[in-house]
Amino acid sequence: MAQIGTDIDLAISLLESDELVGIPTETVYGLAGNALDESVILKIYKAKNRPKFDPMIAHASSVDSVARLVKNIPDKAFTLAEAFWPGPLTLLLEKSDKIPDLLTSGLPRVAVRIPGHPTALKLLERLEFPLAAPSANPFGYVSPVEASHVNEQLGHKIEYIIDGGRCQIGLESTIIGFDGDQPVVHRLGGIAIESIRELVGDLRIETNNSSNPLAPGMLKSHYSPGRKLILGDIEQKAAEQINKKLAVISFKQDYTHISTKSFVLSPTGNLEEAANNLFKALRQMDDPEVDIILSEKVPNEGLGLAINDRLKRAAV
Ligand code: TXA
Ligand code: MG
Repeated sequence: MAQIGTDIDLAISLLESDELVGIPTETVYGLAGNALDESVILKIYKAKNRPKFDPMIAHASSVDSVARLVKNIPDKAFTLAEAFWPGPLTLLLEKSDKIPDLLTSGLPRVAVRIPGHPTALKLLERLEFPLAAPSANPFGYVSPVEASHVNEQLGHKIEYIIDGGRCQIGLESTIIGFDGDQPVVHRLGGIAIESIRELVGDLRIETNNSSNPLAPGMLKSHYSPGRKLILGDIEQKAAEQINKKLAVISFKQDYTHISTKSFVLSPTGNLEEAANNLFKALRQMDDPEVDIILSEKVPNEGLGLAINDRLKRAAV
């Protein structure tokens, strides 16, 4: 198992020696390593058991350092960066020659983000290179939102995990690219789509390319717990399951009367709270005691879009 702690100096010396470290961000925990070193990037692919056609995000601490990783920052990208960085926004921009092809899976654009977690920022400020950091989970599984989640799944592959507490947002960053001047959302995430639209106007959402290597993070069966998850009307779906031990993940209503285990995402119906609880709920309900997980969609607004997206992918 890895050691969990708050020793930033140790994390820095490991990263500078080409090792991987589990790091907190405000979205989810990342499995971090030097984004400019191919051998380190390869280690990350291996540790995650991730196919090499699925590129990684480069994390930096300032717009200046981002600017060195890309050819240029279009006006609308700059507007979004000013509004949401540091924070749960990832921009797809044309990569500079500094970025190894392995990081982008040979694609011409690189994904870049300035994370909002103070520890991640402190770490990035002190390092001389950006950090590649995919979510710190084995490929295809639910993203970790606590240091212990990282240890459970990748602890045997790394030495150290920085404990930054529970991730404040709990959903991955929103990924935005540009088609000419038009913003295109490639992954729904921690920023409400309405706030993005308010700033840049018209945008396209293209997150359903399940077999399109251009956005492989959007593979249909991502975020899947080990157990089968069925999405729909909970009472109705429960009635169809005879003699099964059910786990229920509901939005605000309680279903303890029909389940072995259950998790209410937000008793008050708050979508931020629901987003923050989603991955924890998926992990907790993914229990050997349980045969099937039932869940329902949340209102399709604000962070609800991203929550529903993750639930749909978990249900494939
Ligand atoms: O919130 C987050 O973004 C977290 C934290 C740790 O920063 N990171 C994260 O990384 O979710 P990951 O690797 O699990 O998901 C990033 C997704 C990838 O699945 C990939 O499909 C997409 O971003 N991506 C990365 N680089 C890309 C590129 N050059 N072109 C298209 N998609 C890209
Ligand atoms: Mg991931």
